[in-house]
Amino acid sequence: MIKSNRAEYVIELQDLVNLFDCDLELDIEHIESNDQNKYVNDFVVFYKGFDRKFQFSYYLDTSLSLLRQKSYKKRMVKNHLYKILSSLLNKKLPWGSLTGVRPTKFARDLIVYGEAKEYLISEVLQKDYFVDKSKAELVNSILKNQKCIIRNDNLVDLYINIPICPTRCNYCSFISSELANIKDKVNLYVECLLKELSAVKEIIKNKAYIVRNIYIGGGTPTVLNDKQLERLLSAINFPVDEFTVEAGRADTITESKLEIMKNNKVTRISINPQTFCEATLKRIGRRQKNSQVLEAYSMALVKGFVVNMDIIAGLPGEKLGIFKRTINTILDLYPNNVTVHTLSVKNGAQLKDDREKLNDRDVPLMVSYAQETLQKHGYKPYYLYRQKNQLCGLENVGYFRDDDLCIFNIDSMEETNSIIGIGAGAISKRVFNIENRIEREANVKFIEDYIKRIDEMIEKKKNFYN
Ligand SMILES: C[S@@+](CC[C@H](N)C(=O)[O-])C[C@H]1O[C@@H](n2cnc3c(N)ncnc32)[C@H](O)[C@@H]1O
Ligand code: SF4
Repeated sequence: MIKSNRAEYVIELQDLVNLFDCDLELDIEHIESNDQNKYVNDFVVFYKGFDRKFQFSYYLDTSLSLLRQKSYKKRMVKNHLYKILSSLLNKKLPWGSLTGVRPTKFARDLIVYGEAKEYLISEVLQKDYFVDKSKAELVNSILKNQKCIIRNDNLVDLYINIPICPTRCNYCSFISSELANIKDKVNLYVECLLKELSAVKEIIKNKAYIVRNIYIGGGTPTVLNDKQLERLLSAINFPVDEFTVEAGRADTITESKLEIMKNNKVTRISINPQTFCEATLKRIGRRQKNSQVLEAYSMALVKGFVVNMDIIAGLPGEKLGIFKRTINTILDLYPNNVTVHTLSVKNGAQLKDDREKLNDRDVPLMVSYAQETLQKHGYKPYYLYRQKNQLCGLENVGYFRDDDLCIFNIDSMEETNSIIGIGAGAISKRVFNIENRIEREANVKFIEDYIKRIDEMIEKKKNFYN
């Protein structure tokens, strides 16, 4: 437990402690005081029956904007706590003192605000934030591969959420209903999506926004039947170069759904194995056969889709050898994009109860094997994010080959573009680039509430864009 006289630091300091180990019996008291721009920080750490006292001080650079000063003070305290815990527990973390979801955005901000030179960003992350060399270099490569970012407040991406799945996988904590439990409401859900879409079209027209990318995610959007899918896709109708449907589960992908997507200008789909080990698939309750993935993939190639495949490192029961086989199968298939996740043991997932069955030892090796092997075969990393409770404090990385990256993924992780979210659980973000400000508005999370409160959702959205 952390106590601090600066309430605004507590969550991130606690996140840092949890990254060392959630179960540590560690109590920390922190007090910050200042005399003009000299800041003094005192820590008392209670661990294994002993109190240890630490103090450090620094001078605040008052030429920074007030917002950056606030962020700088927090970074200094986190850095120091990292040094204390790292030496006390004799442990280093791959991301050093960084706790947030978006390390690449963190690095970009250091550059944009003149706190680090672009060509030195990897060194700054290593030296000032204790980031592992391989992770710092990964950030550097990703920043270089994100040159497609355009900061323009008139550009928006459209996101539509389908939080429904054929069955639930037991590692997953995304909010998503099993089809069997909601079957009688799916038609109504699609009608409500169309109603919200029509209001969004009005907003887009009034604001003279230009839609850059479209992403239909979930859940599993291809759980919709042919009629529902056609009804939704045909209503969207924006001329974009990148239109993704996160199909995901191979057991929902059929020739006719691919045809419907193709006819409605979808350009990119996901077909996610997660692993090619069928024993693991059984263990994680993912109702999917390798043969279904291969069949869906060959149908998608014939239709000319850009294909992404998601995999997860650290699935229960998997050791390095099994994971390597999955990566090697991926390389044989050679999809345009590969997204390598590290298992996150989230509170909502059934897997949480099996925490002790997970073997973390091989996970860093899996993640570095994926990175090295994919890069050796022409893939480049282009977006990265971290989640809470990921094994060994690791991350998720999206890779692409040739020029086929997903700009929506970059926009949503780097928060450089506005996103209009439609559907249950969708979040809309307005990015004001000049003022360096982001506003967010969330729809209700559950389909039943969304259907009941659709008019209220639309009203809220109209006000949000007023
Ligand atoms: C929102 S899910 C939707 C994808 C689709 N429903 C599927 O399962 O193929 C996106 C991706 O998140 C990843 N994911 C889900 N739960 C995860 C977890 N607990 N830890 C790490 N990655 C996870 C999986 O790789 C999944 O493909
Ligand atoms: S991993 Fe995908 S299919 Fe499985 S429950 Fe989560 S969202 Fe649904």
